[in-house]
Amino acid sequence: MTNSFYVTTPIYYVNGAPHIGHAYTSIAADVVARWKRLDGYEVFFLTGTDEHGQKVEKAALDAGLDPQTFTDGFAEEFRMMAAGLGISNDDFIRTTEPRHKLACAALWNKLVESGDIYLGHYEGWYALRDEAFYAEDELTTNVHGIRVGPSGAPVEWVREPSYFFRLSAWGDRLLAFYEANPDFIAPHAQKREVLSFVKGGLNDLSVSRTSFTWGVEVPNDPAHVMYVWLDALTNYLTAIGYPDAAAPRAHFWPADVHMVGKDIIRFHAVYWPAFLMAAGLPAPKRVSANGWWTVDGEKMSKSIGNVIEPSALIEEFGRDAVRFFLMREMPFGNDGDYSRRGLISRLNVELANDLGNLAQRSLSMIARNCEGRLPPLPEPVTEADRALLEQAAALPGQMRAAIDSQAFHNGLEDAWRVIRAANAYIDHQAPWALKKTDVVRMGAVLRVLADVIRTVATVLQPFMPDSTARMLDQVGVPAEARDIAGLAQPLVEGSILPAPQGIFPRFVEEAA
Ligand code: MSP
Repeated sequence: MTNSFYVTTPIYYVNGAPHIGHAYTSIAADVVARWKRLDGYEVFFLTGTDEHGQKVEKAALDAGLDPQTFTDGFAEEFRMMAAGLGISNDDFIRTTEPRHKLACAALWNKLVESGDIYLGHYEGWYALRDEAFYAEDELTTNVHGIRVGPSGAPVEWVREPSYFFRLSAWGDRLLAFYEANPDFIAPHAQKREVLSFVKGGLNDLSVSRTSFTWGVEVPNDPAHVMYVWLDALTNYLTAIGYPDAAAPRAHFWPADVHMVGKDIIRFHAVYWPAFLMAAGLPAPKRVSANGWWTVDGEKMSKSIGNVIEPSALIEEFGRDAVRFFLMREMPFGNDGDYSRRGLISRLNVELANDLGNLAQRSLSMIARNCEGRLPPLPEPVTEADRALLEQAAALPGQMRAAIDSQAFHNGLEDAWRVIRAANAYIDHQAPWALKKTDVVRMGAVLRVLADVIRTVATVLQPFMPDSTARMLDQVGVPAEARDIAGLAQPLVEGSILPAPQGIFPRFVEEAA
C-alpha cells in the first residue's frame, strides 16, 4: 500500500490578476507535491479559486459585469498561471461549482446538528479587503484617521441578522489540539501569534451575511449566504468528494499540509480546525505559512504600479528560472524582496555558473574524450572521489528533511553545497590534464561527476522540472529511474550519452 499525501494551495480571490505573491505559494506547494510523488507517495494536489463574497461581488460590479462572468474570466487567469508555472495540480476547484455548494451545505448541516451554529444578530467591525470580522481591541487608526484592522484594511460597522458558529466553546479544545500536535503550525512566529490569539479568548464567529447575495445559500434560509471563509475553507473537503465517505479520494483526508500566506493563518489554524472538530472530522496535519514579498522594498500594489506578473517573468526568463529564484531567494516563512537585479544575479551565478557549467564541462568532456560513452567508476576510489560521492549520497535525505519541514531554501543550499564541491573537485582533479597523462583516471573522474550530476538533478526535479529532465536525459537516466528510489539503480557503464547542450544560459541585460 502506498502512503497518500494531500497538499493544497490557498484558493485565490478572483478580484484581480495573479502576481508573484500568488505564484510563490503555488510553486512551494508544487515543490512539495512533486517531491512526494518522487518519494513514492500517492499525492493529491489541489489549487483553485475563491469566487464568492462581498469583495468579489463589489469588484464585479465596479467592472460592470455580473459576478459569474467576472469570476469566469479571472478563474481562467489563475488556471493559466498554474499551467504557465508548471504547477502539477491534480484538480482545480472553483467555489462556484455545484460540487462545492453541495459540500458547503453538508458541512453547514453537520454544524447545525452538532449545535455549533445558532441564529443571532451581528453587530461589529468588518474589513471588506480581508473578508474578516475584527474585535474592537484589534483596531487602530491609520494616518488618514481611518479605523483599520490588524492588516491595515479599513473596517466598517456592520449590523445584520446572522448565524453564528460557537467558536467561544472551542478555545480550550483548540489549545489542547495545538499542544498534542506541536508541528501543526509553522513557522514558530506564526504559532506564537495564533496561540496568543486563542488564549486571549475567542468570540463566536458570524458565519452568514444577509446584506449581499454572492455566496453559497444557507440551507433552509435563503436570505443568508455563508460567510465567505466558511465557504472557502470547505474547498479542501469538496475536492476529495465530501460528504461522500466512499468517494475515490476520501482517503486523502486529513490533508497533510495546507500551504498558506501568513496573512491567512488565523483562518486556517483557528477557524478551520474548529469547524472540522465540530463536524466530527479530523483537522489537517499542518498549516505552513509563507512570508510576504515586496518589490524593490515596497509593498506590491496596483496603485504603486509595481505588480510583478508571473507570466511576464516566465516569458523573459523561463519558468524554471522563476521557480528557482522564488524558492531560493527567501527562507520560507520569512518576508523577502523581489528585484530584477537579484533575480538575474541568482540565474547567472547559481544556475549558469555553478550548475550549468558543472554539467556542461563534465558532459562535454565525456562527449569529446570518451566517445560519448559513460566511463566506469574509479577503481579504486580515491579519498576525493569518496568524499564527493558520499556528500551527494546524503543529499536525498537532506532534501527530504528540508521539504518535509517546508525549509525549501535549506534543501537548495544543501544541493548547492554539493554542486560547489563538484566544481572544486573538477578543478582539483583537472581531467583536461589527465587526458594527456592517465586516460583511465580521467574517465573515472568524469564518471564520478556524471553520478553527482545525476543525484543533484534528481533531487532538483521538484524545483526545476524542465531543466532537470533535460539534464537527466543528458546523463542517460531512463524515465523509470528518475525517482528517489531509482537512485539506487546505477547508471549503465558504456551507455551512449546524447550530445550535451547548455541548459542554463547566462542572462545578459540589454543596455537601456
Ligand atoms: N481567498 C483567500 C484564501 C482562501 S483559502 C481557503 C485569499 N486569497 S488571496 O488571493 O488574497 O491570497 C492568496 C494567497 O496569496 C495568500 O496565501 C496570500 O498570503 C498570498 N499572497 C498574496 N500577496 C502576497 C505577497 N505579496 N507575497 C506573498 N504571498 C502573497 O487570501
